[in-house]
Amino acid sequence: MTHINTGIRKILENPLIYNLFHNITGGNAFRKHYFSTYFDLPKGAKVLDIGCGSGVMLENIKQHINYYGIDFEKSYIDFCKEKYGDRGNFIHETVGASLREEWFDYFDAVNAHGLLHHLSDADGATLIETAQKYLKPGGYLVTFDTTYHDNQSSISKWFVSKDRGQNVKHTEEYLELASNYFQKIDSKLFTNYSKLPYSAFAMKMTK
Ligand SMILES: C[S@@+](CC[C@H](N)C(=O)[O-])C[C@H]1O[C@@H](n2cnc3c(N)ncnc32)[C@H](O)[C@@H]1O
Repeated sequence: MTHINTGIRKILENPLIYNLFHNITGGNAFRKHYFSTYFDLPKGAKVLDIGCGSGVMLENIKQHINYYGIDFEKSYIDFCKEKYGDRGNFIHETVGASLREEWFDYFDAVNAHGLLHHLSDADGATLIETAQKYLKPGGYLVTFDTTYHDNQSSISKWFVSKDRGQNVKHTEEYLELASNYFQKIDSKLFTNYSKLPYSAFAMKMTK
């Protein structure tokens, strides 16, 4: 799996610096609204957070959910165990590296916030296919990623080109990938979610 982590990318792997960066750019304020919109789940809902990072989802979801967070960076998993230990299960794991049969048709919702654009096409396909298998019928996967799109300003394209993710796609390319695994896809483009001129694309894929 290709994962470039030098320079600013390495610095942002520190969970505290990552959180500070999103506080300054306004990303954290947007997230409160985002998570309450996409994950207005009943108490006890089973949720898988793939690429959980520093625990952004738990930070923004107040109701009691049955939470599982996985990430392939051990520093993030250690950070989450320390900070949110009693609120969920945190597992050091690469998505799709091995399939867990006990999770087939198990989850009400899967979150992959800011992950797809870090993955190669093959690994992105693995992410979506794995989530599809892990969802109950009627359950849903939500992805949220930096994006290129039609009618995008040059400055927004420039910022997007500097993203840590190595496989930022056009909105149409994200939709094409998702449509290989899901028939029902609701999508939304966000052009002003950060104080920086950045664009991001959310897809809600229902099984
Ligand atoms: C940009 S961060 C987003 C973190 C968090 N979801 C958030 O919204 O802040 C992407 C995360 O995905 C993790 N990651 C990347 N590829 C992964 C993979 N194949 N399996 C599991 N985690 C992965 C990274 O370690 C990182 O924590």
